[in-house]
Amino acid sequence: MSFTIPKDATARLNRSELAVPGSNLKFLDRALQSPADIVFLDLEDAVAPDDKDNARKNIIQSLQDERWGKRTVSLRINGLDTHYMYRDVIDVIEQAGEHLDLIMIPKVGTAADVYALDMLVTQVEDAVGLKKRIGFEMIIETALGMANIDEIAAASPRNESLHFGVADYAASTKARTTAIGGPNPAYHVLTDADEAGNRDIHWGDMWHYAIARMVVAARANGLRAIDGPFGDFSDDAGYVAQANRAAVLGCEGKWAIHPSQIGLANETFTPSKAEVDKAKRILKAMKEATDAGMGAVALDGRLIDIASIKQAEVMVSASRQIAAADKRLKALADAGKKATGKKVTAKKKPAGKKKK
Ligand code: GLV
Ligand code: MG
Repeated sequence: MSFTIPKDATARLNRSELAVPGSNLKFLDRALQSPADIVFLDLEDAVAPDDKDNARKNIIQSLQDERWGKRTVSLRINGLDTHYMYRDVIDVIEQAGEHLDLIMIPKVGTAADVYALDMLVTQVEDAVGLKKRIGFEMIIETALGMANIDEIAAASPRNESLHFGVADYAASTKARTTAIGGPNPAYHVLTDADEAGNRDIHWGDMWHYAIARMVVAARANGLRAIDGPFGDFSDDAGYVAQANRAAVLGCEGKWAIHPSQIGLANETFTPSKAEVDKAKRILKAMKEATDAGMGAVALDGRLIDIASIKQAEVMVSASRQIAAADKRLKALADAGKKATGKKVTAKKKPAGKKKK
């Protein structure tokens, strides 16, 4: 281990992060009882320029609802290059900062962007006497942001997570695609011809580099890595495939741009019982091995060693954190059910998908 040990950001469950446009009060109200781990209230790209003031007012009104105090809620402000941003920060924190946990910074390009925002947020928090510090989530969605990703990740003690914004990233890098996430048939290679002259087409994941790069920058700074949007909300299987490949690379969660994607994300980023049981068996076997003075041992015909302990601990601690958060969400949904007399689903399971 290096003598430098990254300090983990504030721990939060972040399997699903629901995007909710600030322009619609009804959506804001519904989001309060959604089963998403984090809800981000959007003032940026889901809100038309003429609607920005109205959306800001809606968000302030909604955030004053005590129930947000029990949820993790973020505010996506407008970009630092717009004249909306200062009001987003000042008005929302001054009037409703108490319930705000996070600020999402879109199109972050340099560490100085984070520094500038940190300065402004600190002044407003101090002026209104907020006791807590609001955390930062940064969307890596431009070539500039990707080029400066390590400095951005390290730019403030408020930083909690990096997010991959695939749509703007495609635009910024001039990638030849118009889809929001997902594979592109043109991103493929052909195998060499077999004896009969046949060649196979192998599709690749054109976003692999960006996500893997983001995970490294995030983890080296103790931050969460979160995969961004998948635009085709009628394609559950496509969403799950994207979420799974992000999870395999080290992401902890994925955006939901539609409520139907929340359950898919929660399910995908929750380790299965079989995975957790295996991790517990690894911990047990390694404890027995170290007690016997050994650094490595075989389990199910495979070698496990001290590095396996850390992997297994990550899995077991994630599953504990998830169980506790699910309990909290269920209690909240039950309270909402009693208050409205309506049925509220705390944990939505995607239809037809069973966990092993
Ligand atoms: C998200 O903001 C994206 O651009 O994908
Ligand atoms: Mg974007």
